[in-house]
Amino acid sequence: MSEMEKKPLKITETVLRDAHQSLIATRMTTEQMLPIVDKMDQVGYHAVECWGGATFDACLRFLKEDPWERLRKLKDGFKKTKLQMLFRGQNILGYRPYADDVVEYFVQKSVANGIDIIRIFDCLNDVRNLQTAVTACNKENGHAQVALSYTLGDAYTLDYWMEMAKRIEDMGANSLCIKDMAGLLVPTEATKLVEALKSATSLPIELHTHYTSGVASMTYMKAVEAGCDIIDTAMSPFALGTSQPATEVMVEAFKGTAYDTGLDQNLLAEIADYFRPQREEALASGLMNPKVLGVNINTLRYQVPGGMLSNLISQLKEQGKEDKFEEVLAEVPRVRKDLGEPPLVTPSSQIVGTQAVFNVLMGERYKVATKETKDILLGKYGQTVKPFNPEVVDKVLGEDKKNAITCRPADLLEPELDKIEAEMKQYKKQDEDVLSYALFPQVATDFFKYREAQQTGVDVKAGDVKNAAYPV
Ligand code: CO
Repeated sequence: MSEMEKKPLKITETVLRDAHQSLIATRMTTEQMLPIVDKMDQVGYHAVECWGGATFDACLRFLKEDPWERLRKLKDGFKKTKLQMLFRGQNILGYRPYADDVVEYFVQKSVANGIDIIRIFDCLNDVRNLQTAVTACNKENGHAQVALSYTLGDAYTLDYWMEMAKRIEDMGANSLCIKDMAGLLVPTEATKLVEALKSATSLPIELHTHYTSGVASMTYMKAVEAGCDIIDTAMSPFALGTSQPATEVMVEAFKGTAYDTGLDQNLLAEIADYFRPQREEALASGLMNPKVLGVNINTLRYQVPGGMLSNLISQLKEQGKEDKFEEVLAEVPRVRKDLGEPPLVTPSSQIVGTQAVFNVLMGERYKVATKETKDILLGKYGQTVKPFNPEVVDKVLGEDKKNAITCRPADLLEPELDKIEAEMKQYKKQDEDVLSYALFPQVATDFFKYREAQQTGVDVKAGDVKNAAYPV
C-alpha cells in the first residue's frame, strides 16, 4: 500500500467521561483517574474526553469534589493529549437555558482551566442555541466541535443533516460530530450519513455512538470506510453495553489497513489492567448493573437511549409501578411526536420520559404536564424540527399559548452573572465557584458548605469523602 493511501484513524478515549457516565452513573472519582493519566498521555489519542456532560453535576452532588479542581489536575497530568468536554449548548452542563453571559463565562473558564476541545450540542438541534458557545470557544482559541444529536424520524433525512452540517460550518465550528447517544445508527446508514456529510462540508467528522443496541463496532467500521476521521471508544473494562466500543478492539480491527491507528496494544493493555479492578469493584458493589452490559434491542424498537431506559425503570420503581414499563415505553414515541419530534438527549430525554410516565400513571394523557413540557411548548428550549401537536398545546397551555415565543430563547434572558455572584458571594473561594452555583444552586451550596467544613476540619474525615461516592 502506498504512503498516499494511508489515512490513519484517530481515536478519542471516553473512559474518563462517557464510559463511566454510561456504566456506573458517573461515579469515577478523580482519585481513581490520576494514577493512570501519565500512561494514557503516552498513547497518542486524538483526545481524551474527561469533563462535562454529567460529570460536573456528579462531582458536586455525589462525589463531593470540585469539578474545576478535577480539570486542573487532569490538565497537569495530560501534558500532550488534548482534553475534551461535552457541553449542552445554551443549557451548558445544566438542564435549562442560561443567559449568554453565563455561557460565555463558562466557556472561558473551561478553556482557561485546561479544556482544548469543546463538543457542543443542542437537544433540539436548534443551531441558534449553539452559536454563543461556538463563538465564545473561537474567541478563547479552543477547538469548537459541534455535534448533531442523531435521531430517527420523518424529518431527519440526509438532506436535513447536510443542511445542518453546512450551517454548523458557517457558524465557525472546527469539526463536526455525529452524536448517536442511543445507538440508533446502523452500519449501512452510517455509510450514507458520513458520505452525505463529507459532501456537504469540509469539516473533519467524528462519530460518537453507544453499544446499547449491539451494532456500534460494525457502524464504526462502515463509517470509517466512508471517510469518518475520528471515532470515540472506551478502554475495554468500561466499554460495550451502554458505553462505547472498546478502544483495543477498534485499534486491532483497523490494524494493517489504510486506517491503522498506530496505537500500541501493549500500552493499551497496561491501561486496561489499571481499570479492570475498578470494573470488578463496581460489579461487586452493584454500582455497575450487569443489565447495562448486554444488548438492549428495545433501544432500536423504541428509539430510546439506554440511559433513559434505566431512568424510566427507576422512576416507575419509586411509584411501585414497574408493571407499567412497556406502556410507558410505548408512550415515549407518542409524547416525542406531540412535542415536535426532538432527539432524545439531555434535557429533552428527561422531559419526554417524565411526561410519558405522567401520561401513563395518571390514566389520562396530559392531565398533568410538567413545567418543562410547558416550557418546550412555549418555545423556551428553542425550535423543534416538526410542529407541536395543536391539541396537546391547547390542553397543556390553554390561554398561556399566546405567550409562546419563536425567537432564540436566550434573546429573552437578561444577563444573569452579576445577580448570581451577589447571591453566592459568601461561599466564593475562586471565580469558577460562581459558575458551579449558576448551574446547580442548591447542590453547589451544599458542596461549598461541605468544603468549608472540610477546610476547617470540622467533623470530616477522609473516609467521608469516599463514602460520598457511593450513596445508598
Ligand atoms: Co455518549
